[in-house]
Parts: sequence; C-alpha cells; structure tokens
Amino acid sequence: MTVSKLFQPIKLGDVDLKHRVVIPPLTRFRANKQHILLPIVKEMYAQRASMPGTLLIAEGTFIDPRAEGYPFVPGIWSDEQIAAWKEVTSAVHKKGSFIYLQLGALGRNAYAAVINAQNYDLVGASDIPAPECPQIPGTPEENPPPQPLTIPEIKEYCTISFYSRITHHTSQKTREFFQMFVVTETESRKEKQ
Ligand SMILES: Cc1cc2nc3c(=O)[nH]c(=O)nc-3n(C[C@H](O)[C@H](O)[C@H](O)COP(=O)(O)O)c2cc1C
Repeated sequence: MTVSKLFQPIKLGDVDLKHRVVIPPLTRFRANKQHILLPIVKEMYAQRASMPGTLLIAEGTFIDPRAEGYPFVPGIWSDEQIAAWKEVTSAVHKKGSFIYLQLGALGRNAYAAVINAQNYDLVGASDIPAPECPQIPGTPEENPPPQPLTIPEIKEYCTISFYSRITHHTSQKTREFFQMFVVTETESRKEKQ
C-alpha cells in the first residue's frame, strides 16, 4: 500500500520531520496579564507534539513591551515569560518533536488602550490606521491614528531595540532561548532519556 505523501518524512533545514502535518501559529490568548503563558499551554503543545517528529510553530509572541498591544498574548522578554516557554519547549522535545516560535511586534495593529497602559504610544510606519482588526472583548472598537515613526525610528523599532535586545541584552539567556527552540533530533532524543 502506498503511504500518502502527507505521512512521509521530510528534511526541513536541519530538522528531520517524520511527516508533513505541521501545526501553524495559533494565537489562543492563554497568557496572564504579564504575558506569561498559563500552565495549560504546556499540555496543549505537548499533546500536539505527541507523534514524534512533528513540527510545531508556536503562536505569535511579543518580543518587547513596546511590541505588544493585545491582552493575554504571550511575551518573551521577561525571565518569567522565558521560564514558561522553556517548560513548553522541554515538553515538546521530550515527545521527540520540534518547536519554533513566531516572534512579533504589533505596530499599528496594537490596541491603543493596551499599549498606552504600558506607557507607550500606538505607532506605525505612517498615520494610517490598521484595517479592521479582530475584536477582542474589553478592547475599544476603534483606534486613533497611529503616531507615524520617522525612518530612523522605524529602524530602531524593527532592529535595535527589539532584535538586538534579543541577541544582545540577554546574550547567555538568549542563546539558551534560541537553543531551546532549535533543537536537533539527537538533542531531542537525549532529552527523552
Ligand atoms: C485562532 C487562530 C489564531 C491564529 N493565530 C496566528 C498567529 O498567531 N500567527 C499567525 O501568523 N497566524 C495565525 N493564525 C493563522 C493560521 O496560522 C492560519 O489560519 C493557518 O496557517 C492555516 O492557513 P489558512 O487559514 O490560510 O488555511 C491564526 C488562525 C486562527 C484560526
């Protein structure tokens, strides 16, 4: 009997997947007010990793307080947030599967009330408001126009303050952070023992 291509292995970069069913990033609003994942999330990802060799792409996650703007979506800038993600990645690796994180910054898509509560402005590449966003309970229906960033500010928003923070501010911690997502199958097996 021929096995459907969907269930045949494939090599993706360094990762050897046992099949081609991939979990896409799915925002579930399962973090607390400090953007720390709730304990249930570990179980959710571990369940989806239960077939060894599965690829999961974890939900869009804010990289900095200035990058946020939705309540209850996870972040990855504080020690507590990183610790909660480590529980998730460890649970996935124990199942012999792979997990990558989608890093995000909301920009003009943030809810003004939420980002303002962090003492940051709603900003964008121009003053054109974002097209309609999905409504989140408890958030206002309409945003004011975003404050347009200058070109240097855009560069800073996209690179210096965020990504260099990830690669620089927490150098050791960050290396661990990236390692916990990008784990080879061998490492994953080691974790299983
Ligand atoms: C509840 C829900 C949450 C989602 N969250 C994200 C997300 O965090 N990041 C993202 O890039 N896409 C997100 N998506 C889009 C899904 O990844 C997308 O629906 C999936 O890749 C399948 O693609 P399709 O909808 O074009 O068929 C979300 C979709 C749903 C239904």
